Amino acid sequence: MTEATGGTAGERKPLLRALSGEAVWPPPMWLMRQAGRYLPEYREVRAKAGGFIKLCTTPEMAAEVTIQPIRRYGMDGAILFSDILIVPWALGQGLRFAEGEGPVLDPLRDAAAVAALDPAALRERAAPIFETVRLTRAALEAHAARVALIGFAGSPWTVAAYMVEGHGSRDFAAARGMAYADPTLFGRLIRTLVDATTDYLLAQIEAGAEAVMLFDSWAGMLPPSQFRRWVIEPTAIIVRNIRRQHPTIPVIGFPRLAGPLIGEYTVRTGVGTVAMDTAMDPRFAAGAVAPNIGLQGNLDPLSLIAGGVALEAEARQILAAMRGRPFVFNLGHGIEKTTPPEHVAQLVRLVRTGG
Ligand code: CP3
Repeated sequence: MTEATGGTAGERKPLLRALSGEAVWPPPMWLMRQAGRYLPEYREVRAKAGGFIKLCTTPEMAAEVTIQPIRRYGMDGAILFSDILIVPWALGQGLRFAEGEGPVLDPLRDAAAVAALDPAALRERAAPIFETVRLTRAALEAHAARVALIGFAGSPWTVAAYMVEGHGSRDFAAARGMAYADPTLFGRLIRTLVDATTDYLLAQIEAGAEAVMLFDSWAGMLPPSQFRRWVIEPTAIIVRNIRRQHPTIPVIGFPRLAGPLIGEYTVRTGVGTVAMDTAMDPRFAAGAVAPNIGLQGNLDPLSLIAGGVALEAEARQILAAMRGRPFVFNLGHGIEKTTPPEHVAQLVRLVRTGG
Protein backbone atom coordinates (compact mmCIF):
# COMPACT_ATOMS: atom_id res chain seq x y z
CA MET A 1 0.00 0.00 0.00
CA THR A 2 1.43 3.40 -0.92
CA GLU A 3 0.61 6.59 0.97
CA ALA A 4 -1.98 7.56 -1.63
CA THR A 5 -3.93 4.32 -1.46
CA GLY A 6 -6.20 3.12 1.24
CA GLY A 7 -9.29 1.17 2.10
CA THR A 8 -9.61 -2.15 0.34
CA ALA A 9 -7.05 -3.00 -2.34
CA GLY A 10 -7.39 -0.84 -5.44
CA GLU A 11 -10.26 1.26 -4.07
CA ARG A 12 -8.91 4.71 -3.36
CA LYS A 13 -10.41 7.03 -0.80
CA PRO A 14 -12.67 9.72 -2.36
CA LEU A 15 -10.77 12.59 -0.71
CA LEU A 16 -7.42 11.35 -2.04
CA ARG A 17 -8.90 10.92 -5.52
CA ALA A 18 -10.14 14.52 -5.53
CA LEU A 19 -6.82 15.78 -4.13
CA SER A 20 -5.05 13.91 -6.94
CA GLY A 21 -6.95 15.78 -9.65
CA GLU A 22 -10.05 13.65 -10.19
CA ALA A 23 -13.51 15.27 -10.42
CA VAL A 24 -15.33 13.16 -7.81
CA TRP A 25 -19.08 13.89 -7.45
CA PRO A 26 -20.70 14.46 -5.00
CA PRO A 27 -17.48 16.03 -3.80
CA PRO A 28 -15.68 14.72 -0.73
CA MET A 29 -15.82 17.06 2.27
CA TRP A 30 -14.21 18.01 5.56
CA LEU A 31 -14.23 21.29 7.49
CA MET A 32 -11.35 23.37 8.77
CA ARG A 33 -11.36 23.23 12.60
CA GLN A 34 -13.94 20.45 12.46
CA ALA A 35 -12.63 19.32 15.85
CA GLY A 36 -13.17 22.11 18.34
CA ARG A 37 -15.15 23.95 20.93
CA TYR A 38 -18.50 23.86 19.10
CA LEU A 39 -18.60 20.11 19.90
CA PRO A 40 -19.59 19.12 23.47
CA GLU A 41 -17.48 15.95 23.19
CA TYR A 42 -14.42 18.12 22.37
CA ARG A 43 -15.04 20.39 25.37
CA GLU A 44 -15.18 17.34 27.59
CA VAL A 45 -11.75 16.02 26.48
CA ARG A 46 -10.32 19.56 26.49
CA ALA A 47 -11.39 20.01 30.14
CA LYS A 48 -9.80 16.68 31.08
CA ALA A 49 -6.54 17.64 29.34
CA GLY A 50 -6.28 20.94 31.18
CA GLY A 51 -4.26 23.06 28.75
CA PHE A 52 -4.48 23.24 24.95
CA ILE A 53 -0.80 22.30 24.45
CA LYS A 54 -1.30 19.39 26.82
CA LEU A 55 -4.20 18.25 24.62
CA CYS A 56 -2.07 18.54 21.45
CA THR A 57 0.83 16.60 23.02
CA THR A 58 -1.18 13.77 24.60
CA PRO A 59 -1.54 11.36 21.65
CA GLU A 60 -4.53 9.36 22.94
CA MET A 61 -6.52 12.56 23.61
CA ALA A 62 -5.45 14.30 20.40
CA ALA A 63 -6.33 11.19 18.35
CA GLU A 64 -9.71 11.02 20.08
CA VAL A 65 -10.65 14.62 19.23
CA THR A 66 -9.34 14.15 15.67
CA ILE A 67 -11.84 11.31 15.21
CA GLN A 68 -14.83 12.94 16.98
CA PRO A 69 -16.16 14.78 13.89
CA ILE A 70 -15.73 11.58 11.81
CA ARG A 71 -17.83 9.65 14.28
CA ARG A 72 -20.50 12.34 14.42
CA TYR A 73 -20.70 13.34 10.73
CA GLY A 74 -18.77 10.81 8.63
CA MET A 75 -16.52 13.39 6.97
CA ASP A 76 -14.18 12.21 4.17
CA GLY A 77 -11.11 13.67 5.83
CA ALA A 78 -9.79 13.72 9.38
CA ILE A 79 -7.34 16.53 10.09
CA LEU A 80 -4.67 15.89 12.68
CA PHE A 81 -5.58 17.73 15.87
CA SER A 82 -2.68 20.06 16.61
CA ASP A 83 -1.82 23.70 15.93
CA ILE A 84 0.41 25.61 13.53
CA LEU A 85 2.29 27.06 16.52
CA ILE A 86 3.56 23.64 17.61
CA VAL A 87 6.53 24.16 15.22
CA PRO A 88 7.83 27.30 17.02
CA TRP A 89 7.15 25.54 20.32
CA ALA A 90 9.16 22.50 19.14
CA LEU A 91 11.97 24.86 18.05
CA GLY A 92 12.14 26.10 21.66
CA GLN A 93 10.13 29.33 21.56
CA GLY A 94 8.00 29.93 24.65
CA LEU A 95 4.28 29.41 23.88
CA ARG A 96 1.10 29.46 25.91
CA PHE A 97 -2.58 29.61 25.06
CA ALA A 98 -4.16 32.14 27.37
CA GLU A 99 -7.88 31.55 28.01
CA GLY A 100 -9.97 33.88 25.85
CA GLU A 101 -6.82 35.53 24.48
CA GLY A 102 -5.44 33.05 21.92
CA PRO A 103 -1.78 32.13 21.53
CA VAL A 104 1.02 34.08 23.26
CA LEU A 105 4.68 33.54 22.26
CA ASP A 106 7.87 35.11 23.63
CA PRO A 107 8.31 37.63 20.80
CA LEU A 108 11.31 36.98 18.58
CA ARG A 109 12.86 40.33 17.60
CA ASP A 110 16.63 39.99 17.09
CA ALA A 111 19.42 37.84 15.65
CA ALA A 112 20.12 36.18 19.00
CA ALA A 113 16.49 34.98 19.25
CA VAL A 114 16.58 33.55 15.70
CA ALA A 115 19.92 31.85 16.39
CA ALA A 116 18.51 30.30 19.58
CA LEU A 117 15.90 28.30 17.64
CA ASP A 118 16.93 24.65 17.71
CA PRO A 119 15.85 22.66 14.61
CA ALA A 120 17.72 19.58 15.86
CA ALA A 121 15.27 19.32 18.76
CA LEU A 122 12.15 19.37 16.60
CA ARG A 123 11.64 15.66 15.91
CA GLU A 124 12.02 14.78 19.57
CA ARG A 125 9.86 17.60 20.98
CA ALA A 126 7.18 17.01 18.37
CA ALA A 127 7.26 13.22 18.81
CA PRO A 128 3.81 13.15 20.48
CA ILE A 129 2.33 14.78 17.36
CA PHE A 130 3.71 12.01 15.17
CA GLU A 131 2.39 9.42 17.62
CA THR A 132 -1.05 11.05 17.31
CA VAL A 133 -0.80 10.59 13.54
CA ARG A 134 0.07 6.88 13.99
CA LEU A 135 -2.79 6.26 16.44
CA THR A 136 -5.32 8.15 14.35
CA ARG A 137 -4.37 6.41 11.10
CA ALA A 138 -4.62 2.99 12.77
CA ALA A 139 -8.04 3.82 14.23
CA LEU A 140 -9.30 5.08 10.87
CA GLU A 141 -8.07 2.02 8.97
CA ALA A 142 -9.83 -0.19 11.54
CA HIS A 143 -13.16 1.66 11.75
CA ALA A 144 -13.48 4.19 8.91
CA ALA A 145 -11.36 2.94 6.02
CA ARG A 146 -12.69 5.44 3.46
CA VAL A 147 -11.58 8.43 5.57
CA ALA A 148 -8.20 9.98 4.71
CA LEU A 149 -5.90 11.49 7.33
CA ILE A 150 -4.62 15.00 6.61
CA GLY A 151 -1.46 16.27 8.28
CA PHE A 152 -0.64 19.97 8.33
CA ALA A 153 1.70 22.80 9.23
CA GLY A 154 1.56 26.56 9.09
CA SER A 155 3.40 28.17 6.18
CA PRO A 156 6.64 29.96 7.05
CA TRP A 157 5.21 33.47 6.56
CA THR A 158 2.21 33.00 8.86
CA VAL A 159 4.21 31.15 11.51
CA ALA A 160 6.97 33.79 11.38
CA ALA A 161 4.33 36.50 11.74
CA TYR A 162 3.17 34.99 15.06
CA MET A 163 6.76 34.33 16.16
CA VAL A 164 7.89 37.93 15.64
CA GLU A 165 4.68 39.57 16.84
CA GLY A 166 4.25 37.26 19.83
CA HIS A 167 0.47 37.07 19.44
CA GLY A 168 -2.37 37.44 16.95
CA SER A 169 -2.70 40.90 15.46
CA ARG A 170 -4.84 42.88 13.06
CA ASP A 171 -1.84 43.99 10.99
CA PHE A 172 1.24 42.04 12.22
CA ALA A 173 3.16 45.30 11.99
CA ALA A 174 6.26 44.03 13.83
CA ALA A 175 6.66 41.06 11.49
CA ARG A 176 5.99 43.00 8.31
CA GLY A 177 8.29 45.74 9.60
CA MET A 178 11.14 43.29 10.21
CA ALA A 179 10.71 41.82 6.71
CA TYR A 180 11.33 45.32 5.22
CA ALA A 181 13.89 46.67 7.70
CA ASP A 182 16.05 43.56 8.04
CA PRO A 183 15.30 41.10 5.22
CA THR A 184 18.53 39.25 5.97
CA LEU A 185 17.44 38.43 9.51
CA PHE A 186 13.83 37.78 8.48
CA GLY A 187 15.11 35.57 5.64
CA ARG A 188 17.14 33.58 8.14
CA LEU A 189 13.99 32.98 10.20
CA ILE A 190 12.05 31.95 7.08
CA ARG A 191 14.81 29.53 6.02
CA THR A 192 14.81 27.97 9.48
CA LEU A 193 11.04 27.52 9.16
CA VAL A 194 11.30 26.05 5.65
CA ASP A 195 13.68 23.37 6.93
CA ALA A 196 11.72 22.75 10.15
CA THR A 197 8.38 22.58 8.30
CA THR A 198 9.79 20.16 5.71
CA ASP A 199 11.09 17.93 8.48
CA TYR A 200 7.84 18.20 10.46
CA LEU A 201 5.64 17.30 7.47
CA LEU A 202 7.92 14.45 6.35
CA ALA A 203 7.67 12.98 9.86
CA GLN A 204 3.85 13.23 9.70
CA ILE A 205 3.84 11.47 6.31
CA GLU A 206 6.14 8.75 7.65
CA ALA A 207 3.73 8.32 10.59
CA GLY A 208 0.72 7.86 8.30
CA ALA A 209 -0.59 11.23 7.06
CA GLU A 210 -2.03 10.66 3.55
CA ALA A 211 -2.14 14.31 2.46
CA VAL A 212 -0.70 17.51 3.92
CA MET A 213 -1.98 21.07 4.07
CA LEU A 214 -0.02 24.31 4.48
CA PHE A 215 -2.01 27.04 6.26
CA ASP A 216 -0.96 30.56 5.26
CA SER A 217 -3.67 32.46 7.11
CA TRP A 218 -1.97 35.86 6.82
CA ALA A 219 -0.70 35.58 3.23
CA GLY A 220 -3.17 38.19 2.06
CA MET A 221 -1.74 41.11 4.03
CA LEU A 222 1.39 41.29 1.88
CA PRO A 223 1.84 43.35 -1.30
CA PRO A 224 2.73 41.26 -4.39
CA SER A 225 6.53 41.65 -4.12
CA GLN A 226 6.51 40.50 -0.49
CA PHE A 227 3.93 37.81 -1.23
CA ARG A 228 6.25 36.33 -3.86
CA ARG A 229 9.27 36.46 -1.56
CA TRP A 230 7.78 35.29 1.75
CA VAL A 231 4.74 33.23 0.70
CA ILE A 232 5.36 31.72 -2.74
CA GLU A 233 9.12 31.05 -2.60
CA PRO A 234 9.27 29.33 0.82
CA THR A 235 6.13 27.30 0.06
CA ALA A 236 7.60 26.19 -3.29
CA ILE A 237 10.74 24.93 -1.54
CA ILE A 238 8.71 22.94 1.01
CA VAL A 239 6.56 21.37 -1.72
CA ARG A 240 9.67 20.45 -3.71
CA ASN A 241 11.36 18.97 -0.62
CA ILE A 242 8.32 16.83 0.17
CA ARG A 243 7.83 15.67 -3.41
CA ARG A 244 11.45 14.56 -3.64
CA GLN A 245 10.67 11.88 -1.05
CA HIS A 246 6.94 11.37 -1.64
CA PRO A 247 6.23 12.19 -5.29
CA THR A 248 2.50 11.44 -5.17
CA ILE A 249 1.47 12.78 -1.76
CA PRO A 250 -1.33 15.36 -2.17
CA VAL A 251 -0.36 18.83 -0.96
CA ILE A 252 -3.01 21.49 -0.26
CA GLY A 253 -1.99 25.16 -0.03
CA PHE A 254 -4.15 27.78 1.72
CA PRO A 255 -2.94 31.27 0.81
CA ARG A 256 -5.74 33.07 2.65
CA LEU A 257 -6.87 36.33 1.02
CA ALA A 258 -4.39 35.95 -1.85
CA GLY A 259 -7.09 37.28 -4.19
CA PRO A 260 -5.91 37.52 -7.81
CA LEU A 261 -2.50 36.02 -6.89
CA ILE A 262 -4.13 32.60 -6.36
CA GLY A 263 -3.19 31.46 -9.90
CA GLU A 264 0.45 32.51 -9.63
CA TYR A 265 0.64 30.97 -6.14
CA THR A 266 -0.65 27.65 -7.45
CA VAL A 267 1.62 27.42 -10.49
CA ARG A 268 4.78 28.55 -8.74
CA THR A 269 4.41 26.60 -5.48
CA GLY A 270 3.45 23.37 -7.23
CA VAL A 271 0.62 22.54 -4.79
CA GLY A 272 -1.87 20.04 -6.23
CA THR A 273 -4.89 21.62 -4.55
CA VAL A 274 -5.50 25.18 -3.46
CA ALA A 275 -7.88 26.10 -0.65
CA MET A 276 -10.10 29.12 -1.31
CA ASP A 277 -10.85 31.55 1.50
CA THR A 278 -14.32 32.96 2.18
CA ALA A 279 -13.77 36.07 0.05
CA MET A 280 -12.63 34.15 -3.06
CA ASP A 281 -15.15 33.87 -5.92
CA PRO A 282 -15.11 30.17 -6.85
CA ARG A 283 -15.79 31.09 -10.49
CA PHE A 284 -12.74 33.34 -10.53
CA ALA A 285 -10.62 30.59 -8.96
CA ALA A 286 -11.92 28.07 -11.51
CA GLY A 287 -10.68 30.37 -14.28
CA ALA A 288 -7.39 31.26 -12.62
CA VAL A 289 -6.30 27.73 -11.70
CA ALA A 290 -5.62 24.92 -14.24
CA PRO A 291 -8.45 22.35 -14.52
CA ASN A 292 -6.26 19.49 -13.27
CA ILE A 293 -5.56 21.36 -10.02
CA GLY A 294 -7.94 20.73 -7.13
CA LEU A 295 -9.90 23.51 -5.44
CA GLN A 296 -11.12 23.34 -1.86
CA GLY A 297 -13.54 25.55 0.04
CA ASN A 298 -15.10 27.94 0.68
CA LEU A 299 -18.38 28.28 2.56
CA ASP A 300 -18.55 31.25 4.90
CA PRO A 301 -18.34 29.90 8.49
CA LEU A 302 -20.89 32.58 9.45
CA SER A 303 -23.49 31.03 7.12
CA LEU A 304 -22.93 27.78 8.99
CA ILE A 305 -23.83 29.54 12.24
CA ALA A 306 -27.02 30.87 10.59
CA GLY A 307 -28.04 27.49 9.12
CA GLY A 308 -31.35 27.08 7.26
CA VAL A 309 -31.94 28.58 3.83
CA ALA A 310 -28.98 30.98 4.04
CA LEU A 311 -26.62 28.05 4.52
CA GLU A 312 -28.24 26.05 1.71
CA ALA A 313 -28.16 28.91 -0.80
CA GLU A 314 -24.47 29.63 -0.17
CA ALA A 315 -23.46 25.96 -0.30
CA ARG A 316 -25.41 25.36 -3.53
CA GLN A 317 -23.70 28.28 -5.28
CA ILE A 318 -20.29 26.84 -4.47
CA LEU A 319 -21.30 23.34 -5.59
CA ALA A 320 -22.67 24.68 -8.89
CA ALA A 321 -19.45 26.59 -9.60
CA MET A 322 -17.25 23.57 -8.83
CA ARG A 323 -19.13 20.81 -10.64
CA GLY A 324 -16.98 18.96 -13.17
CA ARG A 325 -13.59 19.72 -11.67
CA PRO A 326 -11.50 18.23 -8.86
CA PHE A 327 -13.04 19.77 -5.76
CA VAL A 328 -13.24 19.25 -2.01
CA PHE A 329 -16.07 20.93 -0.13
CA ASN A 330 -14.89 22.87 2.92
CA LEU A 331 -15.28 26.21 4.66
CA GLY A 332 -13.41 29.38 3.67
CA HIS A 333 -11.94 29.60 7.19
CA GLY A 334 -12.19 27.65 10.45
CA ILE A 335 -15.51 26.71 12.00
CA GLU A 336 -16.65 29.18 14.69
CA LYS A 337 -17.12 28.03 18.27
CA THR A 338 -20.76 29.21 18.35
CA THR A 339 -21.73 26.94 15.41
CA PRO A 340 -24.71 24.70 16.26
CA PRO A 341 -23.56 21.09 15.65
CA GLU A 342 -26.89 20.30 13.90
CA HIS A 343 -26.11 22.91 11.22
CA VAL A 344 -22.99 20.93 10.32
CA ALA A 345 -25.20 17.84 9.96
CA GLN A 346 -27.53 19.85 7.69
CA LEU A 347 -24.56 20.87 5.52
CA VAL A 348 -23.26 17.30 5.27
CA ARG A 349 -26.69 16.09 4.09
CA LEU A 350 -26.78 18.80 1.42
CA VAL A 351 -23.27 18.23 0.09
CA ARG A 352 -23.89 14.45 -0.06
CA THR A 353 -26.66 15.11 -2.63
CA GLY A 354 -24.25 17.22 -4.72
CA GLY A 355 -26.45 20.28 -4.21
O1 CP3 B 1 -8.83 22.03 11.75
C1 CP3 B 1 -8.76 21.25 12.73
O2 CP3 B 1 -9.78 20.72 13.26
C2 CP3 B 1 -7.38 20.84 13.24
C3 CP3 B 1 -6.80 21.59 14.27
C4 CP3 B 1 -6.27 23.01 14.07
C5 CP3 B 1 -6.24 23.93 15.15
N1 CP3 B 1 -5.59 25.05 14.73
C6 CP3 B 1 -6.79 23.69 16.48
C7 CP3 B 1 -7.01 24.80 17.41
C8 CP3 B 1 -5.68 23.63 12.97
C9 CP3 B 1 -5.51 23.11 11.55
C10 CP3 B 1 -5.25 24.92 13.40
C11 CP3 B 1 -4.54 25.87 12.53
C12 CP3 B 1 -4.24 27.22 13.03
N2 CP3 B 1 -3.91 27.62 14.30
C13 CP3 B 1 -4.19 28.36 12.18
C14 CP3 B 1 -4.40 28.36 10.68
C15 CP3 B 1 -5.82 28.35 10.31
C16 CP3 B 1 -6.59 29.60 10.69
O3 CP3 B 1 -7.49 29.48 11.52
O4 CP3 B 1 -6.29 30.67 10.14
C17 CP3 B 1 -3.86 29.47 13.01
C18 CP3 B 1 -3.71 30.91 12.54
C19 CP3 B 1 -3.67 28.98 14.34
C20 CP3 B 1 -3.24 29.75 15.54
C21 CP3 B 1 -4.25 29.68 16.61
N3 CP3 B 1 -4.52 28.57 17.38
C22 CP3 B 1 -5.10 30.73 17.06
C23 CP3 B 1 -5.15 32.12 16.46
C24 CP3 B 1 -5.86 30.20 18.10
C25 CP3 B 1 -6.84 30.95 18.96
C26 CP3 B 1 -8.15 31.12 18.31
C27 CP3 B 1 -9.17 30.26 18.98
O5 CP3 B 1 -10.06 29.77 18.27
O6 CP3 B 1 -9.10 30.14 20.20
C28 CP3 B 1 -5.52 28.84 18.25
C29 CP3 B 1 -6.10 27.87 19.22
C30 CP3 B 1 -6.73 26.65 18.66
N4 CP3 B 1 -6.18 25.88 17.65
C31 CP3 B 1 -7.93 26.05 19.10
C32 CP3 B 1 -8.12 24.90 18.32
C33 CP3 B 1 -9.24 23.91 18.41
C34 CP3 B 1 -8.79 26.55 20.23
C35 CP3 B 1 -8.11 26.21 21.52
C36 CP3 B 1 -9.00 25.68 22.61
O7 CP3 B 1 -9.65 24.63 22.45
O8 CP3 B 1 -9.00 26.31 23.66
